[in-house]
Amino acid sequence: MAQIGLFFGTQTGNTEAIAEAIQQELGANVVDLHDIAKADTSDFAGYRCLMIGCPTWNIGELQSDWEGFYEELDAIDFSGKQVAYFGVGDQVGYADNFQDAMGILEAKISELGGKTVGYWPTDGYDHSESKAVKNGKFVGLAIDEDNQSDLTASRIKTWVAQVKQELGL
Ligand SMILES: Cc1cc2nc3c(=O)[nH]c(=O)nc-3n(C[C@H](O)[C@H](O)[C@H](O)COP(=O)(O)O)c2cc1C
Repeated sequence: MAQIGLFFGTQTGNTEAIAEAIQQELGANVVDLHDIAKADTSDFAGYRCLMIGCPTWNIGELQSDWEGFYEELDAIDFSGKQVAYFGVGDQVGYADNFQDAMGILEAKISELGGKTVGYWPTDGYDHSESKAVKNGKFVGLAIDEDNQSDLTASRIKTWVAQVKQELGL
């Protein structure tokens, strides 16, 4: 078992590609990937840290597999677990709900005892409202493949380096 369990959901493949890029940056021996569509609550046990990846769909909603798993999160012990989040969204088409899903999952998992790492600055984004912004920062890495895919690789690199430091990896 790797040190980090990364759980993602995806509708059209973008979040899976980001998950794979994050895994590549950290090392395949450091990160196990889990598609939440096929995951069980027991899959979360045993990891030192967790990563949670979710795109926002249907104007401020969780991706459908995460939607289906949302209630099951209550059965997982997140107490004392360090959790890093990343989201994928569209800041132009959905400026009032940019990255909401990341904020919804972070709020829920924090309530269940998870400790958030990997906060990310809002500089360089042009959205109006987001449930993923807390105290002036995104609660995790915000990726926008629809409008800023040219920035994705460097954002992943910078964020992974930051998270590695925060986790002491
Ligand atoms: C119908 C529809 C609704 C969407 N709603 C939102 C939204 O509310 N907020 C947001 O940030 N992005 C929204 N998006 C953009 C997607 O999150 C974005 O395209 C993302 O890259 C999809 O990731 P996936 O391929 O992993 O499913 C929406 C896209 C579509 C087509």
